[in-house]
Amino acid sequence: MTDTIKINIKPVTESRLSQIDFNHIDFGKVYSDHMFIADFYHGKWQDFRIEPYDMLSFTPGSAILHYGQSVFEGLKAYKNESGDVLVFRPEMNFKRINKSAQRMCIPEISKAIFMDGLTELLRLDKNWIPDLPNTSLYIRPYIFALDEYIGIKPSENYKFIIFTCPVGPYYSKPLKVKIEKEFSRAVHGGTGYAKAAGNYAGSLYPAKLAQEKGYDQLIWTDGASHQYIEEAGTMNIMFIKGNKLITAETGDTVLKGITRESVLTIAKEWGIEIEERSISVNEIIASLQKGEIKEAFGTGTAATIATIELIGDGEKDYMLPVPGPDSFSTKVFEELDNIKTGKKEDTNGWIYKI
Ligand code: COI
Repeated sequence: MTDTIKINIKPVTESRLSQIDFNHIDFGKVYSDHMFIADFYHGKWQDFRIEPYDMLSFTPGSAILHYGQSVFEGLKAYKNESGDVLVFRPEMNFKRINKSAQRMCIPEISKAIFMDGLTELLRLDKNWIPDLPNTSLYIRPYIFALDEYIGIKPSENYKFIIFTCPVGPYYSKPLKVKIEKEFSRAVHGGTGYAKAAGNYAGSLYPAKLAQEKGYDQLIWTDGASHQYIEEAGTMNIMFIKGNKLITAETGDTVLKGITRESVLTIAKEWGIEIEERSISVNEIIASLQKGEIKEAFGTGTAATIATIELIGDGEKDYMLPVPGPDSFSTKVFEELDNIKTGKKEDTNGWIYKI
């Protein structure tokens, strides 16, 4: 694999930036000026380029449209007070996209493709990084299969693209979540640990049924018994039970969240007792009934730290206390935000400065 890549840059003739109202940006609906593209053909990644963000063209027979051979990532960039671009833990996303790619029989990309593509794109679209509170530039790298072939086999042609979106919060209010015991997101031996496109498509219908009952999201349980809490699809789930932080262990059915890992690292630094283990639904419900669960929250790149205000199990709903300024989730949200925006020293080497 090459250490550096040559990127051809075709900038926009006129930026769309002046059309954007940064005070009102819906998550994922506003796209920055440029995108980075690499093509895989003849057995290697090549033709590295940055072009204006625009339509793509590929044939109706393209494998991605039929069989979903595609993986993606999500990460965020921020600006510090001096206007430098800070990206949060991009090397973790680089490693994870390749782990997902391997599972989906997609050719891996080199670190140079991921990091140089990202760096050049952010240099060009630096002005798209918002700096209002609770905003950031969401970065979406993804790879998808392009063979024009209707048989089932790994493609021989792919595209790797990175585009970016200025975003506000993914969840704008505390969440009502339902423990899902009928449908499954992942099973052992499946693709649950990968950021594979189809994992998300499969979650839409159960989530829609829950939304019709007034919930915002699901908490997935294990596919074999539906007795154990796994994750929420857009985020990992954590509980503060007594003085302990508990979260489901990651295996092949749970995404190894980068925010999850960052929160656990900070909790360790703060001397909080952590339990990464199987968490049964019965334990959570019994603890909710006894008032032992002080906080429940999701962790994710898009979701950041998302407060859970209600957990539904069957026909019963359980309310959670509103987190105060001294609660763990409030403090860890602020700590992460301060690190990401350069207000707090990055002692763990998490920030990639451009
Ligand atoms: C992210 O948090 O970056 C994700 O990929 C979740 C996505 C479903 C918005």
